[in-house]
Amino acid sequence: MNKQNRSLLHLMVGLGSLLLFARTSIVASQPQIRKQPFESTTEKKPVDLYTLTNVNGVEISIMTYGGIVVSLKVPDRKGKLQEVTLGYDTLDGYLKNNSPYFGALIGRYGNRIGKGKFSLGGQEYRLATNNGESHLHGGNRGFDKAVWKPTEVRGQKSVGLKLDYVSADGEEGYPGALSVTAVYTLTNENELKIDYAASTTKETIVNLTNHAYFNLGADANILKHELMINADRFTPISEAFIPTGELRSVKGTPMDFTKPMAIGARISQKDEQLIRGNGYDHNWVLNRKDTSLSLAARVEEPTSGRVLEVFTTEPGVQFYTGNFLDGTIKGKAGKVYQQRAGFCLETQHFPDSPNKPNFPSTVLKPGQKYATTTIYKFSAK
Ligand code: GLA
Repeated sequence: MNKQNRSLLHLMVGLGSLLLFARTSIVASQPQIRKQPFESTTEKKPVDLYTLTNVNGVEISIMTYGGIVVSLKVPDRKGKLQEVTLGYDTLDGYLKNNSPYFGALIGRYGNRIGKGKFSLGGQEYRLATNNGESHLHGGNRGFDKAVWKPTEVRGQKSVGLKLDYVSADGEEGYPGALSVTAVYTLTNENELKIDYAASTTKETIVNLTNHAYFNLGADANILKHELMINADRFTPISEAFIPTGELRSVKGTPMDFTKPMAIGARISQKDEQLIRGNGYDHNWVLNRKDTSLSLAARVEEPTSGRVLEVFTTEPGVQFYTGNFLDGTIKGKAGKVYQQRAGFCLETQHFPDSPNKPNFPSTVLKPGQKYATTTIYKFSAK
């Protein structure tokens, strides 16, 4: 081999290894899905835990039981990853402790239905009254306690988990067999997107959401988080937490989050609605022109710089400040969850809509497709 050919060969070998290196680093920089069994001593069906990771290291674990977001780790302004959701380390934690819906998919009807009853097509339906005299979050065995059928979804710039569940005709008192799909997608833009879809065999009601509790910082409570809710009105509640039917202006009240405000700034005011809710536990009527995805809320945790933006196609959002947490739950990494340890932004149709003709309808008829989308987008400032 002459000198010229030898340098050509070296060049080719060099190029080859460069290509190989580039390929390996492309593969490693793809978003990933990992599956593992989530051990339980009490649940009969096998439950799996799927961990989705994006190119920024953002990691979300979802289990097939309840479609529960078990863990979500996102970076602060220095790039440090931290758990930002409340929950348990083990499946038995969720099963044994009567979990307050930590991270769960909620259905068939998210939030409350007054007196657990409603009428459709001239017939009255009675649901479980599992919250005082109200029906809450789908009843005694809502979708948060179903084992969902998983399918992995792989995209170029995202990874996802599709979860399917068929709720039988009459389950928890609801009419019609409801086929439900929830797709969790983690994008390389640090978005957790949830697409909900459903169809029914008989006229029924549907209102699906996710009940993740967030704490974006290191404090034991979320009072210093700054919140903006894109809503000029909210739905005031009765003493039984049921909307009165009024769409009330937030102006001049502690419910006004149209400009960013610390969650704790007004939470202890002697305001009738805050007293009834024992803090914030209300539905806000989102400002929107149509049903396209739009910004519902933005939360910033000043110390870590973590920011959460919530986009949705839904007309409402339930802002709940973990008022019922009382220090009796020991959660992840042994953390005791005191009151206000986390907040929820449950995108939804308004509570008790089936009994409130002036609220947007939650009725689903055979042949119609229920489809909503919510995005939780994380960044740091
Ligand atoms: C929702 C309700 C609250 C409470 C929690 C779960 O946010 O609005 O009143 O029931 O779920 O504890």
